[in-house]
Amino acid sequence: MSGSRIAALGHYQPSRVLTNDELSTMVDTSDEWIRRRTGIATRRIAAPDESVTDMAAAAAGKALASAGLRPSGIDLITVATCTAIDRCPSTAAQVAARLGIPSAVAYDLNNGCAGFTTALAGADHAVRAGAARHALVIGAEKMSDVTDWTDRGTCVLLGDGAGAAVVSAVEEADGAEGAGRAGIGPVVWGSDPTRADAVRLVGDWHPHFAQEGQSVFRWATGELPAIAREACRRAGLTPADLAGVITHQANLRIIEAVLRQLDLRDDVVIAQDVVESGNTSAASVPLALSKLTERGDIPSGAPVLLLAFGGGLSWAGQVVACP
Ligand code: UT7
Repeated sequence: MSGSRIAALGHYQPSRVLTNDELSTMVDTSDEWIRRRTGIATRRIAAPDESVTDMAAAAAGKALASAGLRPSGIDLITVATCTAIDRCPSTAAQVAARLGIPSAVAYDLNNGCAGFTTALAGADHAVRAGAARHALVIGAEKMSDVTDWTDRGTCVLLGDGAGAAVVSAVEEADGAEGAGRAGIGPVVWGSDPTRADAVRLVGDWHPHFAQEGQSVFRWATGELPAIAREACRRAGLTPADLAGVITHQANLRIIEAVLRQLDLRDDVVIAQDVVESGNTSAASVPLALSKLTERGDIPSGAPVLLLAFGGGLSWAGQVVACP
């Protein structure tokens, strides 16, 4: 039976850094409040003419180069985003055109902040079904386009960027299951429609981000530990086996509260990219994973839990082998 693995990663962030002190000149807030309640110190903001496609293509180009693949080797491209303005052609189709990928199936996926881990599972399933051999899975968001810059409750949280993974087919060793040898473990995913309004883009053509912050906070810290344990169990592991944990980068307090409830190793690497990047929605997990991998913080092949949640409320997570 064939499986898949993350073969390479890439990421892109705009050059413009927006600090908490600068935000405090725009709305009634302070560096102290933002750091204490969220952990966020800075976020990157795209230029007015910089699009979701620009960021997605930049991240994907790096992942492709790092994988050593020709563009013609890619047969599936999926972009997880909820902020792309273009409905048609999809961002994925535009990325294919930019990178010279000649004939891949290319489509966008909107599952809010859980978009990348959802798309990663979809690519893994396509590979297992024999529908693709090499896929590009991208999370890209221009949250600054949907930010209400007069709302201190949300404008301090959000940032722009993109992360991308090349997913490639592998032959699983006999009897191997989960992420240990196969590379991408079974997904745990779902949604709670009773909380559909908890995270929203409000409005038609020029929407803005809104959320019930405390309600999402309580949901995340209450529900995510069990989802994390289940993703490990399905991969044939326990949390104590993990070398790294990359959760959706929404709030450092959520990350710490969730991970306190898992029996993790003392030396486990925890992604804290929210501190420098803010909440980049579907880009947050691949952005954080790509940065950790680039720095060599997690050994190649080591098991890493990816776990994302957001609008829906939806969630998706899986254990992957670090490329
Ligand atoms: O990615 C999608 C998933 N989303 C999440 O995971 C978000 C989960 N929620 C959170 O991260 C937190 O709820 C927030 C960071 C959004 C908010 O933190 P909080 O500790 O829950 O604050 P709060 O909304 O309860 O507000 C507390 C106080 C309020 O003032 P009063 O009513 O107590 O006087 C707010 O008006 O803090 C005030 N406040 C601010 N003060 C200074 C809200 N935003 C700010 C601000 N600066 N930026």
